[in-house]
Amino acid sequence: VKRIGILTAGGDCPGLNAAIRGVGKTAIVEYGMEVIGFSSGYTGLIHKQYVQLKEKDLSGILTLGGTIIGTSREKPFKIVTEEDNDKPALIKQNYHDLGLDGLVCIGGNGTMKTAHLLSKIGLNVIGIPKTIDNDVWGTDLTFGFDSAVNIATEAVDRLHSTANSHGRVMIVEVMGHNAGWIALYAGMAGGGDIILIPEIDYSIDKVCNKIQERYDNHKPYSIVVVAEGIDHPKTMSAARYLSESIQSRVDVEARETVLGYTQRGGSPSPMDRILATRYGAYAAQCIAEGNFGTMVALISNVLTTVPLEEVGGKMRLVSPDNPLVIKCRNMGVSFGDE
Ligand code: F6P
Repeated sequence: VKRIGILTAGGDCPGLNAAIRGVGKTAIVEYGMEVIGFSSGYTGLIHKQYVQLKEKDLSGILTLGGTIIGTSREKPFKIVTEEDNDKPALIKQNYHDLGLDGLVCIGGNGTMKTAHLLSKIGLNVIGIPKTIDNDVWGTDLTFGFDSAVNIATEAVDRLHSTANSHGRVMIVEVMGHNAGWIALYAGMAGGGDIILIPEIDYSIDKVCNKIQERYDNHKPYSIVVVAEGIDHPKTMSAARYLSESIQSRVDVEARETVLGYTQRGGSPSPMDRILATRYGAYAAQCIAEGNFGTMVALISNVLTTVPLEEVGGKMRLVSPDNPLVIKCRNMGVSFGDE
């Protein structure tokens, strides 16, 4: 019997439980493996804190937000204090003491970097890409992203009411770390008039010109969808900065809304449930086949694996030539740069 471990690391996102269930059920039912779940990401691996995951433990979790085994931003290869030196060795020891034949690390870019380093010290590791930011290198899609886009789009839809009724500029800030994927998708899906993403340099003058132009054309309201990662003073949110700047330059009322963690919480969308389940089941298959040191990925809608070595330390950003950016521009959406 093969014994495998699962952990979830980095920020939580919708679909983590679906992925745990996908790995676990496939490993148990299809391959007769034994499964344990480490508590709180790499922390559980360092301190040998884990729970046995039987098939019954994996029932009823598909639709749950968060992660039943917990997560943390622990980076075991980051040396800050002297004690940190021991972490990789402790992990290796625990992995062998527990008789593990494989470890599934579910997370984003940071998690994949650590997963690669663990595979370099001899652990049989498989990565599964998750994050609402959709910025993991090597895959077209991470689970969590679709749910976040749904939540952000609903917010944009709802903000249209006040924008319209009061003739205001409504600014909605979405997450995404240094990537603009959520802003681009929610901006496009919600019909935003201005979309600001970190990958395209904006000027506040051009943003204000666009708002003034709309006003002059009898459109007294505007919706601005802004990614948290755009260049702005770090003493305030990007949305607050925009709303203050716009109000000081254009004769309009502006209001900001920061969606924050609402985008990461709650039940995953059907698309995320399916993607997370597919990734999980495929990761279990990879373990059974001995395909280690890899991350499961979706490329051109086909499940595949990419070497962890190629993934770690990189980020997948929106290209300014992305077809969606071009389509938006062709329909009059401003990215604040022209
Ligand atoms: O990576 C997911 C994410 O929600 C980013 O969009 C955001 O920048 C970051 O995590 C927030 O991190 P924390 O959970 O540490 O506040």
